[in-house]
Amino acid sequence: MNKRQTRQFAIWSTVAATVAFLVLTFDTHRQVPVLTGEITPQVTRGKDVWHENNCINCHTLFGEGAYYAPDLTKITQHRGEAYLKAFIRDPSNFYDEQRHRRLMPAQDLSDEDIDALIAFLDWVANVDNQGWPPRPILVTGATIPGTAMSTDQLSHAGDHGAPPGARPVAEGNDPIALGEHVFRTATPSCTACHSIAPGVDMAGPSLAGLSARAEKLLGGPDYKGSATDVASFIRESIMEPSAHLTPGPMFSANGVSFMPDTYGKELTPEQIDQLVAYLSTLR
Ligand code: HEC
Ligand code: HEC
Repeated sequence: MNKRQTRQFAIWSTVAATVAFLVLTFDTHRQVPVLTGEITPQVTRGKDVWHENNCINCHTLFGEGAYYAPDLTKITQHRGEAYLKAFIRDPSNFYDEQRHRRLMPAQDLSDEDIDALIAFLDWVANVDNQGWPPRPILVTGATIPGTAMSTDQLSHAGDHGAPPGARPVAEGNDPIALGEHVFRTATPSCTACHSIAPGVDMAGPSLAGLSARAEKLLGGPDYKGSATDVASFIRESIMEPSAHLTPGPMFSANGVSFMPDTYGKELTPEQIDQLVAYLSTLR
């Protein structure tokens, strides 16, 4: 290149880079309202509460922060509002230092600030983060939506496991198999709170022996709901979690179950039928 060509090259490459920069900046601003929800005053307040209390010293959002405690980017998709309220009010009711080794200190927040925090976390959860971070530290039992992998499976995935993001394949038309699939893939995933191993209570009670337990319960005086048999009991538990409460301070407060009451809307009637078929097999 001679001197003139060099100058031309410098000028045109600068122009091209500037145009690309402006177009991308413009596009970013155009995408923000598409990829994120509305920022209400409550969401803004929640963000301030988040900062004032240094939640980021232990937690991450979008993978940014400290790695002591779980990533909370999608927490409102793993736990319902009732549970989160009760948890943030007093985390020590849910975990014990002996068994879980680490604890979250109580934050002494007003109910109003807790509501704002949850609104903020829900706004975060609905940002289209395009799968980032790819391997967050999840709360106990949670799965990355769209995969069937739980926390335990992820840490053992190694080279033989399916990569995060791989869709599990449900086999055939067997309602029990399909129900087991719904159990893992509903939003929030049932496995985020329920184990089917005996005695393993997570955010929700273990569902091992569910049918046998329901049979006994239905005949007795302690039952508060309106189900008449095991299948209708399971259906009621999913559609109206507060109709009958499993005893235990970790599971409900003031007559309201910590299980989300949104499945009646989230799931199709067939999916509910499949769940009932699957859970009825847990004797
Ligand atoms: C000193 C560290 C620390 C701070 C500060 C902290 N947390 Fe936590 N948090 C934890 C730990 C540890 C856990 C997980 C307990 C476990 O699963 O072992 C947790 C769990 C949670 C969970 C999930 C509970 C569940 O079971 O699903 C939420 C929600 C949460 N924290 C919100 C917050 C918010 C909001 C703040 C700020 C107001 C905050 N945390 C500040 C340590 C902390
Ligand atoms: C955020 C945690 C959470 C999620 C997610 C969740 N549950 Fe629950 N579940 C609970 C809690 C807490 C209870 C106990 C309180 C009550 O009786 O509602 C419960 C109770 C139940 C019971 C009654 C158990 C018994 O022994 O009587 C069934 C059945 C059940 N859940 C099924 C499901 C299914 C199916 C899903 C997914 C579609 C699901 N749960 C998702 C927390 C959760």
